[in-house]
Amino acid sequence: MADQSKRWILMTTAQTPTNIAVIKYWGKRDESLILPINDSISVTLDPDHLCTTTTVAVSPSFDRDRMWLNKKEISLSSDRYQRCLREIRSRANEVEDEKKGIKITKKDWENLHVHIDSYNNFPTAAGLASSAAGLACFVFALARLMNVKEDLGKLSAIARQGSGSACRSLYGGFVKWNMGKNDDGSDSIAVQLADEKHWDDLVIVIAVVSSQQKETSSTAGMRECVETSKLIQYRAKEVVPKQVADMEAAIKYHDFPSFARLACSDSNQFHALCLDTSPPIFYMNDTSHRIIGCIEKWNRAEGSPQVAYTFDAGPNAVLIARNRKVAALLLQRLLFHFPPHPDTDLDSYVTGDKSILQDAG
Ligand code: DP6
Repeated sequence: MADQSKRWILMTTAQTPTNIAVIKYWGKRDESLILPINDSISVTLDPDHLCTTTTVAVSPSFDRDRMWLNKKEISLSSDRYQRCLREIRSRANEVEDEKKGIKITKKDWENLHVHIDSYNNFPTAAGLASSAAGLACFVFALARLMNVKEDLGKLSAIARQGSGSACRSLYGGFVKWNMGKNDDGSDSIAVQLADEKHWDDLVIVIAVVSSQQKETSSTAGMRECVETSKLIQYRAKEVVPKQVADMEAAIKYHDFPSFARLACSDSNQFHALCLDTSPPIFYMNDTSHRIIGCIEKWNRAEGSPQVAYTFDAGPNAVLIARNRKVAALLLQRLLFHFPPHPDTDLDSYVTGDKSILQDAG
């Protein structure tokens, strides 16, 4: 039994990178369990760049669960946080720290409260999958603190209930989220297709077009899209299954031309669904469109794709170059066509915390 009279505190820190979908998840068949209408595939970014760091602490002196995001206290009352907390707490195991003389039994966890301090080193809610890294880290850090013994697949099903795309952030490399068939979501989990070393020639460049929070969240956008788009079910049932199979093969065989064509067309398809929503949702802006134009022109001129682009629910471009040489050329071109504001630190081309691209016209 934990000694409630002592002012002890036990904490752990975890770091989880964000992931970028190359075959997008868009649309739920179950809103509360967060079950998708199609499989999706993503690439997890290098943890040195876009990631969430979360420290979780438990102490008998805490009188309620509390959370801070980027140094501001936020409410933990949403169903999503509550569901993840409940799922993790129900799997908590005994924890013993002999040096500190702390022993927490399974039963103790029911009455102990946690403090969660989370920090994103990149713009939050600006279409850079901050909720993916955030919720994955939330679940992973709590699972570590509470000595939860579940494997990553099971943890991914818990993270999924916090934010769909979060289930893919628990693995590095290329990850597939199987939509699953079961009503309880037990088979709607993420699996690793290939680890981070499998295709390490690829270089991902994030062009932060705007770090403003988006007007329509992914959650609201996909709900409105499912309710009003005539195309979304067609994409999910008729188009995505083949795209997913082709993307898996492209990843397996390092086939960059197929990878790039699939990623670009899937991104454009996803934004077409947003336009097919009533009222239409515009996540990309003119600068995003001009970036697409530049990459398409370049790929056509080379006769074979050199760079893939993909845009999530925001205007920022995720550009995937086939190797470092192409990535260096890509940066040169971006700097030429979209010169940064004079006061911009160029490191923010990758980790950016402000709007850095201006359209050179
Ligand atoms: C465009 O995972 O943020 O990034 O499940 O409602 O939390 P909720 O949505 P979220 O949606 C991500 C949508 C996307 C595509 C993707 O990551 O697959």
